[in-house]
Amino acid sequence: MRVAVIGAGAVGRALGRAWVKAGHDVVYGARTAGVKDMASFLAQTGGREAPGQAAALAADVVVLALPWGKAEPAVRGLGDLNGKVVIDCMNPLIMRDGALGLECGFETSGAERVAAWLPGARVVKTLNQAGAEVMGDTTMLSARPVMFLAGDDAAAKDTARALVAELGFEPLDAGPLSIARLLEPLAMVWINQAILRGEGRDWAFTLARRRP
Ligand SMILES: NC(=O)c1ccc[n+]([C@@H]2O[C@H](COP(=O)([O-])OP(=O)(O)OC[C@H]3O[C@@H](n4cnc5c(N)ncnc54)[C@H](OP(=O)(O)O)[C@@H]3O)[C@@H](O)[C@H]2O)c1
Repeated sequence: MRVAVIGAGAVGRALGRAWVKAGHDVVYGARTAGVKDMASFLAQTGGREAPGQAAALAADVVVLALPWGKAEPAVRGLGDLNGKVVIDCMNPLIMRDGALGLECGFETSGAERVAAWLPGARVVKTLNQAGAEVMGDTTMLSARPVMFLAGDDAAAKDTARALVAELGFEPLDAGPLSIARLLEPLAMVWINQAILRGEGRDWAFTLARRRP
């Protein structure tokens, strides 16, 4: 599958590296050619680089891994992604009164905003509920982590589910895209525990079910 990763930072690189290993054709959508240390990263891990719009238009799946504050113009600038599977990993983080919080959540979500910026795109919210390190290497964990998905298009969710499973997560369908209003606060639980409560970054949520 050809996967365009828009935003080659901690999340974009962790996911891209893992999907290259899984056999996908990963193209990082750069703002301009030659983003810092990108050449050495690509030489080590594989994958390619292309301007964001070209990468997105040629991809089967577009993965958004941008800082929320820069996301809207960058995402709108990707062009017409009508019909394309778009995975939104972004959490709509803002600083408010000196504390990290979410910009939206009760009446809409970051993912629903993304869907509004990309008319016709089949947006799936997922890969926002764990740290980049774990998303890139779930084998570090003592149990299989869970990763919820939310989206309105069943086939798009199937595509995203397969990519999430290849990372080692148990993918779990959480419902329609509006459920991103719950998944983005769930990411805040992870962030709070990891950063403010001292848990560190090497953990993820898991599901414990009754034994058969
Ligand atoms: N870090 C995590 O553990 C984690 C986990 C789950 C979800 N998330 C979410 O994932 C998103 C990305 O987080 P991150 O930690 O990967 O951030 P990051 O390390 O800051 O990476 C973001 C990348 O996006 C690039 N970028 C900025 N504007 C761009 C544009 N217009 N076009 C293309 N690339 C652009 C940045 O390039 P420059 O450095 O050159 O500006 C940077 O490489 C955020 O929304 C975050 O909330 C993060």
